Amino acid sequence: MNIIITGASKGIGLAIAKTFAKQNEKHAIGICSRKKDELETAEKELRSISAKHEYFSAVCDVSQEKDVNNFVAEFEKKFGVVTILVNNAGFGIFKPILDITKQEFESVLATNLRGVFLFTRAALPKMREAKTGTVVTISSLAGKNGFAGGAAYCASKFAVRGMMQCLFLEVREDNIRFVTICPGSVETDFFIDENHGSAIKSKKALMAQDVADCVALAASLPQNADISEIDIRPTNPKG
Ligand SMILES: NC(=O)c1ccc[n+]([C@@H]2O[C@H](COP(=O)([O-])OP(=O)(O)OC[C@H]3O[C@@H](n4cnc5c(N)ncnc54)[C@H](OP(=O)(O)O)[C@@H]3O)[C@@H](O)[C@H]2O)c1
Repeated sequence: MNIIITGASKGIGLAIAKTFAKQNEKHAIGICSRKKDELETAEKELRSISAKHEYFSAVCDVSQEKDVNNFVAEFEKKFGVVTILVNNAGFGIFKPILDITKQEFESVLATNLRGVFLFTRAALPKMREAKTGTVVTISSLAGKNGFAGGAAYCASKFAVRGMMQCLFLEVREDNIRFVTICPGSVETDFFIDENHGSAIKSKKALMAQDVADCVALAASLPQNADISEIDIRPTNPKG
């Protein structure tokens, strides 16, 4: 399969890329993020898992139309049509509405919402021609339940769920699946970046691998079966 995973230098995205890299089937795996050094380290890690696959990595800010179009065009030129696109790149700024600046609000929407729109729009035309494809988007349980301080993040994660529901109805007759995954708290760097405000890291969170397993499961079903949405939460958050 020809797989693109956005925001795959670490965390959930890297776990997804590693999961595909461990599979027997030969893949082309494309990863992007903004920091070149972390991306290169991630690609090396993937190559050390298996040399059987083809790997492609390039710096790409998902919020930037030119970056996204170049990334997808280059990937398609090398490997052909994208068969699985995983819209994973995202971040949060958690502040009360009167404290969050317009620029902070818009930056969250630019990555978490516009980025999903841009990547999906770039990959979709060739998927439609090929009459097959799977688009997986990592939303969040924060895309279903609001909380104080989550206005920008929740707005972005509710919005991608709505967008994915619409796109599925638009292109399901071309055999294209849309899978939205809504995890609860996952043990990654997500909450420890100082720019992300005052969110507290959960001690009993999911692991990035748990989310990666959901992606692999959804991708493993026959193309006629679409798990449209998955909620995943820790079984025992106090355990
Ligand atoms: N961790 C959680 O508790 C949790 C729960 C539910 C949903 N999620 C969602 O899961 C996804 C992955 O989160 P994570 O926990 O793995 O976070 P993470 O460890 O902070 O990793 C985020 C990844 O996205 C990349 N990224 C961020 N902004 C980007 C942009 N504009 N363009 C390209 N790449 C970008 C980062 O690299 P660069 O900074 O170098 O670009 C990094 O590779 C996000 O969409 C997040 O909202 C996370």
